[in-house]
Amino acid sequence: MTLVRKAVFPVAGFGTRFLPITKASPKEMLPIVDKPLIQYAVEEAAAAGITEMIFVTGRNKRTIEDHFDKAYELESELAFQGKYSLLKEVQGLLPKNLHYSYVRQCDMLGLGHAVLCAKPLIGDEPFAVILADDLIDAEVPAIGQLVEQYERTRSSVIAVQHIPLAQTRQYGIVGPVWKGMRSHLISQIVEKPAPEYAPSSLGVVGRYVLSPAIFEYLNTIPKGTGGEIQLTDGIAAMLRQYPVIAHEFSGIRYDCGCKTGYMEASVQFGLKHPAIAEHFHSFLANLPLSDQRPTLVQKAV
Ligand code: G1P
Repeated sequence: MTLVRKAVFPVAGFGTRFLPITKASPKEMLPIVDKPLIQYAVEEAAAAGITEMIFVTGRNKRTIEDHFDKAYELESELAFQGKYSLLKEVQGLLPKNLHYSYVRQCDMLGLGHAVLCAKPLIGDEPFAVILADDLIDAEVPAIGQLVEQYERTRSSVIAVQHIPLAQTRQYGIVGPVWKGMRSHLISQIVEKPAPEYAPSSLGVVGRYVLSPAIFEYLNTIPKGTGGEIQLTDGIAAMLRQYPVIAHEFSGIRYDCGCKTGYMEASVQFGLKHPAIAEHFHSFLANLPLSDQRPTLVQKAV
């Protein structure tokens, strides 16, 4: 039996990098082709053997709950109209045998605080944390790669990838003390440091498998970067007493919390989607790019 049965999805954030669409709609419901980001995250967890999906939600996030619920009206209407293949599609949208729970994060006190809100539903067992706006395209699901490391080492595991030094202010950055091929024991983790203070170029991507010991530390750490209770600071406190591993996962990560990363993911997933790939490929191949390029180089958003 798998040791990691539960995953936490912090989904209460405002999604300010994606305004105005996030004014009244959750960023986790943004579609990549025809599925919302949060569904990719849940499918990734399910593919790693995780069955308990725990969402830490907030205001304006009700559509997430509806998405993972049975759609009675839609299903009976499709049945009434005899649209059985669509009905089958709606009913088979999600892997079976999953359980969904929701806990509300009433105060927006940061990612560490969001994880702490899930404590009553986690209890005393290891668990995954998945940030849905980091979409990862991988042969072996990224969280599955971390779960495997956890099961081998019984140590908390964090997903990392090399990032340009100029971008350290956007990531938690780890400092390895012992380097393996892809898995490194870390002695430091710092939230969004300036490049000159970054302990390495290994940036944290939104996948974690954590020992329940993390809750003790999240309960006691002071507010950190941005005046928030940071998960990174909780991990930094934990690694003084428990080993923590940074794992360079295989796969391509798209930062779908920002507009450029989201567009890149949409194009790549569109090119692979069986229903539209052929048409989309020829559409892109025939784009008169030279006529459409903006004259000014625009700032990435
Ligand atoms: C969060 C974490 C950060 C991590 C990042 C990955 O930051 O706090 O350590 O590197 O996710 O996406 P956020 O992007 O939510 O500001």
